[in-house]
Amino acid sequence: MNAMIGEKIGEGGCSEVFEWGTASKIIKLARANTDMDAMRREYHNNHMAWDNGLPVPQPFEFVEIDGRPGIVFERIIGDTLMKRFVKHALERAVSKEVHIEEDSQNDIRMTARILNEIHSKSNVNVPSQRETIKNAIGWVNYLSPEEKETIFKLIDSLPMKQQLCHGDPNLGNIMIKDGHAIMIDWMNATIGNPEADLAEYIIMIRYAILPSYLPDEAVAYIDSIRETIIKVFVEEYTRLTGVTYEEIDAWIAPVAARKLSADGISEAEKSILINEIRARLSKLS
Ligand SMILES: Nc1ncnc2c1ncn2[C@@H]1O[C@H](COP(=O)(O)OP(=O)(O)OP(=O)(O)O)[C@@H](O)[C@H]1O
Ligand SMILES: [Mg+2]
Repeated sequence: MNAMIGEKIGEGGCSEVFEWGTASKIIKLARANTDMDAMRREYHNNHMAWDNGLPVPQPFEFVEIDGRPGIVFERIIGDTLMKRFVKHALERAVSKEVHIEEDSQNDIRMTARILNEIHSKSNVNVPSQRETIKNAIGWVNYLSPEEKETIFKLIDSLPMKQQLCHGDPNLGNIMIKDGHAIMIDWMNATIGNPEADLAEYIIMIRYAILPSYLPDEAVAYIDSIRETIIKVFVEEYTRLTGVTYEEIDAWIAPVAARKLSADGISEAEKSILINEIRARLSKLS
């Protein structure tokens, strides 16, 4: 291992993240499931976001260590929204209160605001969202060719937009530094409809299977607030942009179908998504 590498500070489905040299930098090293091209794309996308003045970690260099592609970034000092959300749920589980406290509502609204800031950029060199989503759905094993064809037609029928989208706005990809949201993990950025990003967030909040380390009370609490989180999120995004829940809802089936191509989610979660997709497709025909 390279002498610059320090303690492991985080990880995700595609990578492990370590301290790098001084305290101010980290290195994100690809796992075996993530190739050189994907990491280069992330570096390019993150650079583009940085150059456009978006709140993202500064990217420093693309490197290769022991054959693993990696990116050196500015270290963001702060917690992910995931960590903050789990902390909130554990506290609520003890106190048995069922409202979402103001701080956590603020985290949800901040997510809507940072997405809106990202979506306000349009003149950027990233892949087409429609092509990316269709291509991913093409690889999915869980849907029939007819079902895929119906989803492609649905995508083609939706209004065309050309806005920068992050592609994976999950709670582990937003960090809070000095009260401000920072968006990390830009591998899946595309240009297209912001509704796809919003649908991605809604699908995660509505259907994610919670980790088994959480106590039953915390799981019950989270289950009881899923739809409230979505309401707070959409209200803030609609207030900022005029985009309505109905417009976002049309993207749920295509984005859920795309998610079936990801290797980071469990079979149980995929089967929930398949049921949701089929219910929606049957209403179309
Ligand atoms: N610039 C950074 N500063 C501090 N911590 C970071 C930074 N980048 C990543 N991390 C930590 O590492 C974790 C994993 O990073 P990241 O989300 O980029 O990896 P990933 O493997 O692409 O994730 P995913 O599972 O979403 O694909 C983050 O949730 C965060 O805790
Ligand atoms: Mg991530």
